[in-house]
Amino acid sequence: MKKKTIRTGIVGAGFAATFHYECLKKVHGTDVEVEGVFATDTDQAEAYAKKRGISTCGSLEELLDKVDVVHVCTPPVAHEHIAVAALERDKFAIVEKPLTGYFGDGSEDFSGDTFPKQDALDQSLASIERILAAESKSKGKILYAENWIYAPSIQKEREIIEKTGAQILWIHGEEAHSGSHAATYAYWKFSGGGVMIGKGCHPLTAALYLKRVEGMARNGEPIKPKAVSARVHAITRLEKFRDEGHIRCDYHDIDDFSLMHVVFEDGTIADIFASDIILGGIHNWLEVSANNHRTVCNINPNTAMKTYNPVDANFDDIYVVEKTGTKQGWSNPSPDEDWFTGYPQEMEAFYRTIAYGEALESTSNLAADCISTIYSAYVSAEKAGAEVSIKTF
Ligand SMILES: NC(=O)c1ccc[n+]([C@@H]2O[C@H](COP(=O)([O-])OP(=O)(O)OC[C@H]3O[C@@H](n4cnc5c(N)ncnc54)[C@H](O)[C@@H]3O)[C@@H](O)[C@H]2O)c1
Repeated sequence: MKKKTIRTGIVGAGFAATFHYECLKKVHGTDVEVEGVFATDTDQAEAYAKKRGISTCGSLEELLDKVDVVHVCTPPVAHEHIAVAALERDKFAIVEKPLTGYFGDGSEDFSGDTFPKQDALDQSLASIERILAAESKSKGKILYAENWIYAPSIQKEREIIEKTGAQILWIHGEEAHSGSHAATYAYWKFSGGGVMIGKGCHPLTAALYLKRVEGMARNGEPIKPKAVSARVHAITRLEKFRDEGHIRCDYHDIDDFSLMHVVFEDGTIADIFASDIILGGIHNWLEVSANNHRTVCNINPNTAMKTYNPVDANFDDIYVVEKTGTKQGWSNPSPDEDWFTGYPQEMEAFYRTIAYGEALESTSNLAADCISTIYSAYVSAEKAGAEVSIKTF
């Protein structure tokens, strides 16, 4: 079959823009032509473009005029504006997580610690409505870049659920490490919250997805989340936290530990942990307890490989696994971390949707349910864990 050519643009030139570009090189069903990059940090955009032999654009509009799809790889505060601008021009938007959120009242000294969390819920739901309205009028689509949906272990679990008609009783999962690198991550006004949204969105969306899969497989209807109870903490901001230099601790007004207990409309449950306080490398896993099987999806780390290295310096130019503090001793190097994490599979699937109209797994509605659950969880955490109902899309 002759491959279609899709013209693409990158918005943002940081961490996510880097791995998106790497994955574009692995898309095989479509010819991808990267037309340019636009980022507000123009020096970063220049360096990004030069390294890859692509051009920079002076504005979002200039980039949008040249492409069929944009990759939205900016801090979450900019996602809605860029995605809606793309949709209004009938373009596709691959939007990084989280889809959108609440980023304060615009004041310079806005504090995520003290404002009423119901405001965040109301405003983030309004943002979702605006994005979904723009999508419904557009020939383009939101392709929600939640890589956990495309991680091979989650997709294998999807197959098990679909083929065995499993009923999921309890999901528990976690995303955690020793702290995100982005400077803006420390501020609610850029990130829309702390670790509960920044990392919790990954295992939460996978849990919401698998319950949807279960419902569709048995009854042709997704099973949606109904209510959430949550706690958040700022452990590294405790007066008595003792910094030994291993855990990032310069957060301004965000949580670094969270727990969401989600109840679905069929009464089954999910418990989702997210934290920025653990050592030993990234810890991403999801466990599914069903009525006919039990699965542990080890996204990262996993035991595909095990290596003993007696001298740290021996591995100076060897990538082992994300966020490990040392390469000495026993470790579990990921032979292809991107593959286990679902990044290339995600891009391949998105470009198949754009080029050939193939069905999409990670949709705007799934992203919307994730945002709605998380901000309902912030309302719950403000009330020390009281149950809050969830609006779904
Ligand atoms: N899926 C994942 O595993 C994963 C991992 C890391 C980050 N992310 C997500 O990717 C997004 C970007 O995070 P990052 O770590 O790359 O951040 P980063 O700080 O490394 O890079 C952000 C880039 O966006 C640019 N930018 C900021 N505002 C802009 C605007 N209004 N218009 C155009 N460019 C703008 C900056 O100049 C910078 O180049 C976030 O939504 C984050 O949650 C996802």
